[in-house]
Amino acid sequence: MSSAAAKDPIAPHGGGALVDLTAPAAERARLKAAAAKLPLITLNARDLADLEMLSTGAFSPLDGFMGEADYVRSRDQMRLQSGVPWSVPITLGVADSEAGDLKPGGEAALAAPDGERIAILKLREIYRVDRRREAEAVFGTADEAHPGAKNVLEAPATCVAGQPILFGEIPGRTFLEYPREPRATRAAFRELGWRKIVAFQTRNPTHRAHEYIQKIALEVCDGLMLHPLVGETKGDDVPASVRMETYRVLLDLYYPKNRAMLAVMPAHMRYAGPREAILHAIVRRNYGCTHFIVGRDHAGVGSYYGTYDAQRIFDNFAPEEIGITPLCFENTFYCRRCGGMASYKTCPHEDSDRLLLSGTKVREMLRRGEAPPPEYTRPELAEILVRAMRER
Ligand code: ADX
Repeated sequence: MSSAAAKDPIAPHGGGALVDLTAPAAERARLKAAAAKLPLITLNARDLADLEMLSTGAFSPLDGFMGEADYVRSRDQMRLQSGVPWSVPITLGVADSEAGDLKPGGEAALAAPDGERIAILKLREIYRVDRRREAEAVFGTADEAHPGAKNVLEAPATCVAGQPILFGEIPGRTFLEYPREPRATRAAFRELGWRKIVAFQTRNPTHRAHEYIQKIALEVCDGLMLHPLVGETKGDDVPASVRMETYRVLLDLYYPKNRAMLAVMPAHMRYAGPREAILHAIVRRNYGCTHFIVGRDHAGVGSYYGTYDAQRIFDNFAPEEIGITPLCFENTFYCRRCGGMASYKTCPHEDSDRLLLSGTKVREMLRRGEAPPPEYTRPELAEILVRAMRER
């Protein structure tokens, strides 16, 4: 570990150094030439996001796509073979048409969906998996209506394990003006002098409930990293470009400049609820954060998970194994009788006094061109959302 990283408030997950799978500049041309002659594995957008998370160290201590032992133990026990907590298998599935040319101990070229070769994979293992069993373990369901389970069920059953070395640019990356790698956010925290840093995962526009829990957390931390996921999300979620505009405006108008920063996470959304909450926390530890917000139905979809399952799952691990501290929040809302934001923990009134809007209801309002009430969404953000819906 570099001496700068050693002084950071929190070490990467697993206790080692941050993984770095990008080839040094001087070696890229040689690797590119070598890749041209190797058997090809074509990645989809989600594989590409996993590749980026692996290569920047966001998935440390993973140093490649999982082999069978890590796959089985992470699926069944939420741990790597080494015992380190890891709640979601990270696999690279390959089509049967591609698998025939691959051999453990050999190499393959990884290509983006457009065919551009961007990495060399040092192949450690080829193995078969039961995607149905994986979906049931990770998502609690193998229902095709669950967007994450559907992706897993459709993934090839043949997996290749190994270390990728990235020599090219990952295409289609957006929001490059924001920090997106653990090394960049760790450097920013050092520069800002923050020691207690709380991360907020989000795939939705920021509503008053989000702002409320972020600011409660910020009261007891030095800084907030607003950390939207900008990889693939399900079709009816608000697109990242619109969400990013809401985050920018919100931070600009309502957060002190030296206490909140916007960074992006290139991962795709799995909607694995509790299992994904653990993954999200571990990843934010790698980004250098010491605390992580887990609210109601974190990373949930539909009614697959209990409201607080994503908080309770942390009880399966000793706090020092996860390292980053979860800050858990009950369902929050605006209460007319309290005259402000509150939660089931702090508000004694009736549901009829509370403004309780589901994400689905808000999306329907926006689709009709209606702005959600100011107690739900700040008017400056509602305007952005209504305009974006109209343009679509
Ligand atoms: S998520 O899929 O990324 O979890 P979202 O962006 O809506 O979805 O949520 C971000 C974080 O805020 C999650 O930790 C979630 O549990 C929390 N959260 C969202 N809405 C509320 C709310 N009304 N009360 C408490 N926590 C909430």
